[in-house]
Amino acid sequence: MKEQIHLALGDLTKLDVDAVVNAANKSLLGGGGVDGAIHRSAGPGLLEECRTLGGCETGDAKITKGYQLPARHVIHTVGPIYRGGNSGEAIKLASCYRRCFEVAAGNRVGSIAFPSISTGAYGYPLEEACRIALTVSLEQLVRFPQIHRVIFVTFSGKDLLTYAKQLIEL
Ligand code: APR
Repeated sequence: MKEQIHLALGDLTKLDVDAVVNAANKSLLGGGGVDGAIHRSAGPGLLEECRTLGGCETGDAKITKGYQLPARHVIHTVGPIYRGGNSGEAIKLASCYRRCFEVAAGNRVGSIAFPSISTGAYGYPLEEACRIALTVSLEQLVRFPQIHRVIFVTFSGKDLLTYAKQLIEL
């Protein structure tokens, strides 16, 4: 399973994959960070489709087309806002990754690129978030062998190093 996992450094909106994952907010109406980058690159059609989805709960995921992105789809998920770690944040973050795999499998997505969900504006400590991302993803790859490529896209070299170290340890 680990051979299906890849690490990348840079802007995930540039990736030619079946789906990129958006670290969205519950409104699904755009924002900053990776949400802003995806909407800027995808163009206005993405927001129009998002308006029809009725928002998204924390820990859930919903799929749209990719519009002007190289990616065919965007899977929008809403990570938990980190409030110290005793408000069920880990369970909610794990649910984000699990639901993204389920939605991907339900839409014939074979390659998927994740940002580090919740580790920016939502303040989740990267080390713990990374461990959840990798652990849940490895589990889900057993469940959905048809998903043949998972790319974790980090925005800084430091984050990339964290992913690389933890992937080796798993
Ligand atoms: N490509 C890859 N990673 C990116 C990009 C990009 N273009 N832009 C930002 N990132 C990284 C950040 O460095 C961080 O590591 O994505 C990670 C997630 O950060 P945020 O985008 O801030 O997402 P999150 O912490 O989940 O907060 C979500 O922020 O943008 C708003 O609408 C969004 O309210 C929601 C909240």
